[in-house]
Amino acid sequence: MDDGVDVELEAWLESRETFEPPEAFVEQANVSDPDIYEAFEENWPACWERAADLLDWDRRWDAVLDEGDAPRYRWFVDGKLNAAYNCVDRHVEAGRKNRAAIRWVGKRGETETYTYGDLKRETEAFAAALRELGVGEDDVVTLYLPMIPELPVAMLACARLGAPHSVVFAGFSADALATRMDNADSEYLVTCDGYYRRGDALNHKGKADRAVRRLDQDVETVIVDRLGGGLPHSLGESQHDYDELTERHLNAEVDPVVRDSEDDLFVMYTSGTTGEPKAVRHTTGGYLSHVAWSSHAVLDLEPDDTHWCSADIGWITGHSYIVYGPLALGATTMMYEGTPDYPEKDRIWEVVERYDVDTFYTAPTAVRAFMKWGPEHPESHDLSSLRLLGTVGEPINPRAWKWYYKHIGGGECPVVDTWWQAETGGMMVTTLPGVSTMKPGTAGPPLPGIDAEVVDPDGEAVAPGEAGYLVVERPWPGMLRGLAGDDDRFVEEYWREYSDPDAGEWTYSAGDGAKIDEDGYITLLGRVDDVISIGDHRIGTMELESAIVGCEGVAEAAIVGAGGEVLAYVSTEQGHTGDAALRSAVVSGIEADIGEVAVPDHIVFTPELPKTRSGKIMRRLLEDIATGEELGDISALRNPEIVGELRARLAGETRSYLEPEE
Ligand code: WTA
Repeated sequence: MDDGVDVELEAWLESRETFEPPEAFVEQANVSDPDIYEAFEENWPACWERAADLLDWDRRWDAVLDEGDAPRYRWFVDGKLNAAYNCVDRHVEAGRKNRAAIRWVGKRGETETYTYGDLKRETEAFAAALRELGVGEDDVVTLYLPMIPELPVAMLACARLGAPHSVVFAGFSADALATRMDNADSEYLVTCDGYYRRGDALNHKGKADRAVRRLDQDVETVIVDRLGGGLPHSLGESQHDYDELTERHLNAEVDPVVRDSEDDLFVMYTSGTTGEPKAVRHTTGGYLSHVAWSSHAVLDLEPDDTHWCSADIGWITGHSYIVYGPLALGATTMMYEGTPDYPEKDRIWEVVERYDVDTFYTAPTAVRAFMKWGPEHPESHDLSSLRLLGTVGEPINPRAWKWYYKHIGGGECPVVDTWWQAETGGMMVTTLPGVSTMKPGTAGPPLPGIDAEVVDPDGEAVAPGEAGYLVVERPWPGMLRGLAGDDDRFVEEYWREYSDPDAGEWTYSAGDGAKIDEDGYITLLGRVDDVISIGDHRIGTMELESAIVGCEGVAEAAIVGAGGEVLAYVSTEQGHTGDAALRSAVVSGIEADIGEVAVPDHIVFTPELPKTRSGKIMRRLLEDIATGEELGDISALRNPEIVGELRARLAGETRSYLEPEE
């Protein structure tokens, strides 16, 4: 427990609303000149050359930005480069082949290190193998792998060939995989035999096989042997063993394919407001510049650093800040396969100590868990290697921020609360750790060169302190270039709401509520559409609700996010009750349609959902019930008697959740 000194410190922290960047940090920071904001402003868009100049180009661009076909912007026009060359080869050529590129810590405590030299050999061998299987430029290769080194290897092998990858999170179901492969017309799949979850070996290949059987196209599949024979599997027609393939191509030379700046580097499926996931397109030049620059300026990464981003590579955070950003800069990136509390609750800090991690980037939900587990876990390790901390994915409340700052950073590491999205490619709103004052709970000002604003429904800037919608007025290099195969939806979803096409003015709508203070700091208030973002996971409520409603006995479902958790309120059909059987049917339904990742933290059965007189589900009320907030105006409610019932049922559900049966 905290000693006397800590109590004082706690009180002091509590009383503070702002924090200056620690001096020692500023002195060594990659970016420490406050004039950078103005410099970017005065020289926009040419200021972004500073990002592109972090990369090696085969041909320099003719123009920084082409706005001719807005909102289909083009960055670093006619520039040529290869992303894998930038993330691997050039570091080897610079004499750093023995520098660790990837340090992997497996679920069972196994470890592996890939130097830049290893990474080059392995990606080249796998690129040669993929080419032999028929992969050519612009063929979409689907990667359905857990957090094992073969995942970034495969991504980089694809990048080497100019074949866009589409990484599908391993926790997604066969159905979800099939939908994505079908949508992307992907004829190549890299997956594995299985992986461990809570000690059990899961049959991953089974899921992949089921997905492929559902597809019309022929698929060449490569299978990584993750379990070392732990889960015997046989290879069918068009199925190839990863080791066998790469060994055959060991020492192969595959020249990095020169790509246009605007050529796709990857597509990333993400949840939207409809049940259909959308494929966000990211390009080679703009995306890589943006993530390299933000890794440099915000994560403050240097080539000698060991960086740990705790996300899964299956999500955009892992793409940008485990793989592309850190490797573009030649740093060492950590890959952690396990869970934060196994075998013990000090696991993360043990790894930080063992690998001398310099920068640590995680989700607020993880920080809240660390806080709940208590400061004794980080205290039992030497965390003095840490220089910077970051968060992403959801708002971080000031208490959790301060806990992180104090107990993990020891008051000596700046904390960056970074707002961005799969669509933005990289960070957009955050303090610059070597420049800006930090305000816990507030992400910060837009990054230099980023024109984020908070507006009312008419698109007018709101007054400080008032709630509005987060928009981005000017384009940025890492922006999505479209939704694969659906240009109308691209314009509709992101550009319709606040733009004035007749005047040639295009405004990107982020789908987040926000407010802004007198200093231009932006505080995020959560999604304003039917998407829930929690930690790494972004889930469309429609997608999830329709998976639940598909179960026999379920009448309706409403998903809400509250306090960092997802709740499903499920009303039952006449003659059915929310018993254990229905609960497990609902869970299986979600697992089959979307994947285990989408199973809510709580499922609350109810005879009916609260509805307005016009028959709309009152989601706001469901959220307030979940968080225990005062209920606002409920006069529009047709069935007010349901409130007490829901409260009682929720209490029962959370109690059983907190006290598991074992
Ligand atoms: C939310 C993850 C508050 C937001 C990188 C956004 C945040 C969605 C923050 C994107 C933050 C992300 N503070 N909310 N620092 N960062 N979000 O596409 O709602 O998985 O729109 O990208 O996460 O989730 P996505």
